[in-house]
Amino acid sequence: MPNARILLVMAMEREAAAVRTKLGISHQSVPLHRALPPRFFSRPPTTTTPALGLVINGIDERSGLDAIATQPAVISTLLATEVFRPTLVVSAGTAGGFAERGGAVGDVFISADVVSYHDRRIGIPGWDAYGIGSYPVAEVDVNPSDVGARWGRVTTGNSLDAPPVDLATMAELGTDAKEMEAAAVAGVAAQLGVPFLAVKGITDLVDAPEGTAAQFERNLAHTADRVADVVAKLLPTLSQSS
Ligand code: ADE
Repeated sequence: MPNARILLVMAMEREAAAVRTKLGISHQSVPLHRALPPRFFSRPPTTTTPALGLVINGIDERSGLDAIATQPAVISTLLATEVFRPTLVVSAGTAGGFAERGGAVGDVFISADVVSYHDRRIGIPGWDAYGIGSYPVAEVDVNPSDVGARWGRVTTGNSLDAPPVDLATMAELGTDAKEMEAAAVAGVAAQLGVPFLAVKGITDLVDAPEGTAAQFERNLAHTADRVADVVAKLLPTLSQSS
């Protein structure tokens, strides 16, 4: 589409740093709300690239930490969509993977089929499906290996750990990338009628003996770099399919 406008939604500054550098959107951010923390960056279109927006959740005032997980993701997506009017919303960032399903640290997954919640258990007919969400993802005409990525199922929860009940849901859903924002971003995009996609890089393996936090810290910079590479390579395709 000639007037594509792509909005990247990212949680942590350290996840977004490589994207900002690689895509040349490192200049000053603008606040989107007088009392809420999201930081918004944008880059105008060029003859070969689409208009690009980037919203980062910002700093949670109470803790002084990056605002992560679903609630900040909803705020960022809604506020940034209001000002930027994207034709495609992309939830980009990091995730846990599964060696048992062929995942490895540094892999980058482009969301396939739908994104779902793996921890919204509401055992009442109708509400059970509401809880899981399963929001559609945009069809992208790309061979993922051409951009250094793979197709994968992305699922979302509000916890870094993975208790047995969540692991059982993730096994059912075939989760390749377990993260904390995509379904929330997709839910907002779906309500606003904007196509959605997730691009998630693996920092840690959920089924490895080493703890998630240690793996995450060790691999974050490398995986964030890989995500930025994939996003940069995907942009021409995304601007055609949005
Ligand atoms: N982000 C990176 N690794 C994660 C994990 N294991 N679970 C949830 N979010 C993550």
